[in-house]
Amino acid sequence: MLGMERVFFSLAALAVLAAAATNEPVSKYIVYLGHTGSSKPEAVTSSHHQILASVKGSKESSLVHSYKHGFNGFSAFLTEAEADSIAKLPGVVKVFRSKKLSLHTTRSWDFLDSFSGGPHIQLNSSSGSDVIVGVLDTGVWPESKSFDDAGMGPVPKRWKGVCDNSKVTNHSHTIHCNKKIVGARSYGHSDVGSRYQNARDEEGHGTHTASTIAGSLVKDATFLTTLGKGVARGGHPSARLAIYRVCTPECEVDSILAAFDDAIHDGVDILSLSLGEDTTGYDGDSISIGAFHAMQKGIFVSCSAGNGGPGFQTIENSAPWILTVGASTIDRKFSVDIKLGNSKTIQGIAMNPRRTDISTLILGGDASSRSDRIGQARLCAGRFLDGKKVKGKIVLCKYSRGVASSSVIQRHLKELGASGVILGIHNTTEAASFLDLAGAAVTGSALDEINAYLKNSRNTTATISPAHTIIQTTPAPIIADFSSRGPGITDGILKPDLVAPGVDILAAWSPEQPINSYGKPMYTDFNIISGTSMSCPHASAAAAFVKSRHPSWSPAAIKSALMTTARFLDNTKSPIKDHNGEEASPFVMGAGQIDPVAALSPGLVYDISPDEYTKFLCTMNYTRDQLELMTGKNLSCAPLDSYLDLNYPSIAVPIAQFGGPNSTKAVVNRKVTNVGAGKSVYNISVEAPAGVTVAVFPPQLRFKSVFQVLSFQIQFTVDSSKFPQTALWGYGTLTWKSEKHSVRSVFILGLN
Ligand SMILES: *[C@@H]1O[C@H](CO)[C@@H](O)[C@H](O)[C@H]1NC(C)=O
Ligand SMILES: *[C@@H]1O[C@H](CO)[C@@H](O)[C@H](O)[C@H]1NC(C)=O
Ligand SMILES: *[C@@H]1O[C@H](CO)[C@@H](O)[C@H](O)[C@H]1NC(C)=O
Ligand SMILES: *[C@@H]1O[C@H](CO)[C@@H](O)[C@H](O)[C@H]1NC(C)=O
Ligand SMILES: *[C@@H]1O[C@H](CO)[C@@H](O)[C@H](O)[C@H]1NC(C)=O
Ligand SMILES: *[C@@H]1O[C@H](CO)[C@@H](O)[C@H](O)[C@H]1NC(C)=O
Ligand SMILES: *[C@@H]1O[C@H](CO)[C@@H](O)[C@H](O)[C@H]1NC(C)=O
Ligand SMILES: *[C@@H]1O[C@H](CO)[C@@H](O)[C@H](O)[C@H]1NC(C)=O
Repeated sequence: MLGMERVFFSLAALAVLAAAATNEPVSKYIVYLGHTGSSKPEAVTSSHHQILASVKGSKESSLVHSYKHGFNGFSAFLTEAEADSIAKLPGVVKVFRSKKLSLHTTRSWDFLDSFSGGPHIQLNSSSGSDVIVGVLDTGVWPESKSFDDAGMGPVPKRWKGVCDNSKVTNHSHTIHCNKKIVGARSYGHSDVGSRYQNARDEEGHGTHTASTIAGSLVKDATFLTTLGKGVARGGHPSARLAIYRVCTPECEVDSILAAFDDAIHDGVDILSLSLGEDTTGYDGDSISIGAFHAMQKGIFVSCSAGNGGPGFQTIENSAPWILTVGASTIDRKFSVDIKLGNSKTIQGIAMNPRRTDISTLILGGDASSRSDRIGQARLCAGRFLDGKKVKGKIVLCKYSRGVASSSVIQRHLKELGASGVILGIHNTTEAASFLDLAGAAVTGSALDEINAYLKNSRNTTATISPAHTIIQTTPAPIIADFSSRGPGITDGILKPDLVAPGVDILAAWSPEQPINSYGKPMYTDFNIISGTSMSCPHASAAAAFVKSRHPSWSPAAIKSALMTTARFLDNTKSPIKDHNGEEASPFVMGAGQIDPVAALSPGLVYDISPDEYTKFLCTMNYTRDQLELMTGKNLSCAPLDSYLDLNYPSIAVPIAQFGGPNSTKAVVNRKVTNVGAGKSVYNISVEAPAGVTVAVFPPQLRFKSVFQVLSFQIQFTVDSSKFPQTALWGYGTLTWKSEKHSVRSVFILGLN
């Protein structure tokens, strides 16, 4: 009864719809019809035309995209009345308005700490050329050296994707796919003014994420000729890339769904999406729907967690079948020497290519143009600085998150003729690179030292030098303050899943996108930018790496391998810290920072079949009929607390929510699959917060063969008198240990 039949409607119903058509304003809607069943793609599309022609009462079709491979649905211009009528038809899961999503890159240069490509992701490039990673982004600059295919073998025969140049009118814009870029499609470019009618990237973002995943080795890649000189390489240089340009430049939901549909058809193994939306549920969330159907077809989907931090509950892309990736720093910094007139040298941080002569050093507050605006002058708000007082000088500005970006401050000071700037970092880890003015960001004791010098000396001076790169800085990693935090939509699923490098990442760039926002445009082939947009492709590369070694592993098994082997200690052997110096909780970093090489050999995995995920759909606001349409299966939804048993590699138990207000106990079931040595023995090891007792049955797992599955039960008992009244959550870990492996799961308990 599913499949073809359900998309053909009775004529009576269609007649009613036609009558509803008027001259009302139209907007773009997504009509989601669930799975495709066994229908042929052409039949599915013709059913879409049929629904539309009838509702519109005319032959003129307003169909924009027809989704027919991975799932069933379409996008079209409809009036609200038409959308409402379609939503009521049998066979329709959901009708929702298309909208624009955002790329998860922060202001490009407003960060400090480190840049990547470094030792954390030294992947093995000698194998795995059969893995194809689809990137949904702003496209690609195919001529970048990062996409050179020298030495790569032929494209896998199973690949069905294309290099679509059909709309290109200027032949110099044509994308020539090669053995590295095996497909390039583009969507929605008729909407907004886009220079290119194919997947060519005029933004830079897509080129950056794609080269972070699978860029070939490029020697002597630099940013602004002086900085970050070194080898640029993707996380998995032998993987192939399939480019889906969904942001042209805006990232419309209907384009994203069309790309999912094509990517499922084309045969990608991994999908990487560095974009997202705020949502209140999984169901209206197009990425969650597209990823669900991709997961059903065995495709691993990795998404950025969003840049909404450091506030809690800011996470995006948190469906359980998605890998949700937060951002951390690595151990490289651009260090700037600031020599004070008292001969002391202070270390600042910036991607600063410039130097100053010895110059007078003043406080922004002392250069105020109005005595009643000293506060604003301290922040170097341009209007309140007296040009005569700052000309030729280095100005120390108080730098606060969310007040003015460093590029705005630079512009003001440059316009007023200052020779340099020092940003005194106030309440943020964000700093800046400096493009047009010499400068650096300074924090902590270094800032105290400059302030003391200014206070105690007359005729203060300073000299700023160009940055040099220092490596093996400690502590690293730390979690970026912008990285979005959990909890996610469902309290029973802990998000984010893990973190990966996302601060000051060097990768390929579109030569058409200037890297400065004012003054004479500056162009570069490589750029350093930050965001969970940059951490997601690192995790996608790690997933591709695991997939290339273990082609038969399911998306859930790969996710489990990445999570249970993640690092939770920094390079000083202390627990990884948040941006504010506090220990990073699982809501901040999930399981920890990815360790791609460790993930190749996890010992045990927590696997989840598509059917087990399907049951999770019951937690969403769907009717039984809708669920049947989405999955093609009859679901019997179990009680809510059974979702705790989704075989996730981390555990989140909001005890009060599932057990009632005074509940003190929760029982969670899990099972692990042996992917290590055939004969192996694992013992449980638990770290629990005060007031929580964790019992695991059995406490030892004895495996006799590879791929054997063993189940266990975890009993949490809470003594609420033993933790502070204010504690909402308790954190701990549960680790299966054998002689060779440590399979670590983090858990969170909701206490109140
Ligand atoms: C990389 O691949 C080679 C050849 O397959 C292998 O000998 C080596 O152990 C691999 N290195 C890692 C870190 O997996
Ligand atoms: C074709 O594109 C190139 C490169 O963008 C440009 O220089 C040229 O002017 C274009 N030609 C036409 C006819 O638009
Ligand atoms: C930082 O401080 C400024 C003013 O001192 C304030 O406006 C801003 O909201 C603060 N930002 C954060 C993230 O606390
Ligand atoms: C201030 O410092 C400059 C540079 O070191 C020096 O040339 C000048 O004489 C000093 N002025 C006073 C009043 O000390
Ligand atoms: C669930 O769906 C119904 C019907 O579509 C709607 O009225 C209700 O507001 C939804 N509830 C939530 C929590 O989304
Ligand atoms: C679902 O159950 C109904 C009634 O038992 C049956 O007619 C239908 O074929 C089932 N659908 C599937 C996909 O199994
Ligand atoms: C929970 O415990 C509180 C205090 O002990 C008591 O007042 C309340 O009635 C209990 N609620 C339930 C549902 O048992
Ligand atoms: C597991 O526990 C048993 C008995 O407690 C012990 O003999 C064995 O060495 C342990 N194995 C590991 C890998 O810790």
